[in-house]
Amino acid sequence: MKPVTLHQLRVFEAAARHNSFTRAAEELYLTQPTVSIQVKQLTKAIGMPLFEQVGKKLFLTDAGRELYAASKDVFERLSQLEMTMADLQGMKQGTLRLAVITTANYFIPRLLGPFCQEYPGINVSLQVTNHEGLLERLSDNQDDLYILSRAPSGKDYAAQPFLDNPLVVIAPINHPLAGKKEISIQRLAEEPLIMREQGSGTREAAEKLFEAAGVQMNVKLDLGSNEAIKQAILGGLGLSILSYHTLTSLGETPMLTVLDVEGFPIHRQWHLMYPQGKQLSVVAATFRDYLLAESKKLGEDINLDQVMRGR
Ligand code: PGA
Repeated sequence: MKPVTLHQLRVFEAAARHNSFTRAAEELYLTQPTVSIQVKQLTKAIGMPLFEQVGKKLFLTDAGRELYAASKDVFERLSQLEMTMADLQGMKQGTLRLAVITTANYFIPRLLGPFCQEYPGINVSLQVTNHEGLLERLSDNQDDLYILSRAPSGKDYAAQPFLDNPLVVIAPINHPLAGKKEISIQRLAEEPLIMREQGSGTREAAEKLFEAAGVQMNVKLDLGSNEAIKQAILGGLGLSILSYHTLTSLGETPMLTVLDVEGFPIHRQWHLMYPQGKQLSVVAATFRDYLLAESKKLGEDINLDQVMRGR
């Protein structure tokens, strides 16, 4: 293999990630012919084709895929090095790439505020997606840290639980079941439910509970947003099963209440995860320590006993 330059690798990495020379050119502020020339020179140096064109679509060849994986490693290592150097100079600097599950959106952005104030040199890139989307990002190693509820089993990932995530049954305060004690799951199944979309962790946990009780869920509406579900409950479309965090993030939600249903709350925990053996950047390790310390305070917001007794 002939020598390759970092510039060629950067251009190739962007073209491979976008599957497009045009979009790579836009991202790197280059012209499209410049991208083509760089990829051509790299192809020559490697001695094998890196892309193949089928119709109008661009695909990586086997050699291209190997080179893409290697270039991602190179750039990740370089960005870690940059952060380590900044750390040696006494500055916490760099980008924190965080991927969080939809429901964690209720507390993570609030925690990021004080974190960014404490470390003004750190920029944050925050990706929000549902459980399924997050697992994809995790297996592709696209981010530094991941926050999700159900950690995948096995030894491939380091997972640290840091906060409770109870799932509760939510109804409008004027619902006939509001204030009733020990409602059976069969009785709940008679009510129309507004549930999160397939692929959501909340949905999966609720389905498991119904399945274990041998009861069919009566799903009237699927919605991809916790906030839209709360509005639909208020609109009288039905009840829902959501994380308790969706109610308490900005104080109480006075028009909604938690029902006392058998099997609830479903006990879940938030986990901080990353691939086992991944060397965390200085910035990511700083955020991990911050999150684990701050989540203790957040946990004090969740007094479920009081919720189940008082509502
Ligand atoms: P979700 O995940 O936002 O995909 O429902 C939350 C959870 O897994 O508890």
